[in-house]
Amino acid sequence: MLDQHYPALAAALPHLPLGHWPSPVTRLASLGHNVFVKHDGYCGESYGGNKLRKLEHLFADARARGCTSVMTYGVAGSNHALATATYAAQLGFDCYNLLTPQTNAHYVAQNLLASLATGAQLVPCANDDEAHQHAARLRRELGAGLYEIPGGGSSPLGTVGFVSAAFELLSQVRAGLLPLPDRIYVALGTMGTAAGISLGLAAAGVDTEVVPVRVVRPDIANSEKFIALFASTNRLLHQLDPGFPLLRPLAPRIRHDQYGQQYAVFTQAGMAAKKRLFDDEQLKLEGTYTGKTMAALLSDLEQQRDDRTILYWHTYNARPLAGAGSDYHELPAPFHRYFETPVQALDRA
Ligand SMILES: Cc1ncc(COP(=O)(O)O)c(C=O)c1O
Repeated sequence: MLDQHYPALAAALPHLPLGHWPSPVTRLASLGHNVFVKHDGYCGESYGGNKLRKLEHLFADARARGCTSVMTYGVAGSNHALATATYAAQLGFDCYNLLTPQTNAHYVAQNLLASLATGAQLVPCANDDEAHQHAARLRRELGAGLYEIPGGGSSPLGTVGFVSAAFELLSQVRAGLLPLPDRIYVALGTMGTAAGISLGLAAAGVDTEVVPVRVVRPDIANSEKFIALFASTNRLLHQLDPGFPLLRPLAPRIRHDQYGQQYAVFTQAGMAAKKRLFDDEQLKLEGTYTGKTMAALLSDLEQQRDDRTILYWHTYNARPLAGAGSDYHELPAPFHRYFETPVQALDRA
């Protein structure tokens, strides 16, 4: 999509198509005639959600560099780690996922079994330091054959996937599928999704406000790091095609009020949003990212008195997961606790 506007990028950007684009936009009629959703959940055949747009560039880069293995980071139930494992297997890469502990929820066990089914090596790490030790060992063992993908796929190259996504959205606006949104709500984790969309809109000269809803610790997602990722992605695109403008990053208006106690600890408001969207729209959200994001949108909508166009960017996988019948004992022992201990209270309903 981006390369249609900047043809030099077509040749210069590593890109391996993995998904179906554009992702559809529909109206969320139960929330008002001017509220829309962009569904990235179905964009991949075997696994959807926001990671695919990043992985299209990252796997292409890995292949161009002659790598045969990929390594990435996440928590035990990381959607990003599962997406990486899924497409690594399809593309013939060995995959190493370095996974740290998290609060228990049903999806953690489901994602672990689905990752196991891909044949990826799931490496339990007690904390970030241990993950870095495993990473150093794998670098030594695999040398230049190993391609490293940062947590969430949010390197500048991965983030380009969402710069392109912003141009995709604008072409849907031009086609009359929705008016130009005044605001876009999107979950903020490793920030590549929101920073990429913001950069794409700014490059296109559009002043839609992006509302990144923070769901991770403030030292992971904050304005300074957001601006740095926006700027490094911008420099990359400008280097590859000088026609891509160099922009002054705007300070993002990050929403901090839906975070709750901790990453992946669900909130009442997030779970209420999840239930409402499922009951009224058959849209499946979850408690870690998308429920909290929708809760921010719903609370703003209650205050809103004008007719602004709102877009919720749905980042969660909508495809059924593989591995449901597998035996969790095949996983390394530190992961068994996600099958043997209760999930958090708000996930028990
Ligand atoms: C479902 C879902 N939504 C949103 C995000 C956040 O995206 P990003 O890490 O690009 O900020 C993630 C990633 O971790 C995710 O799994």
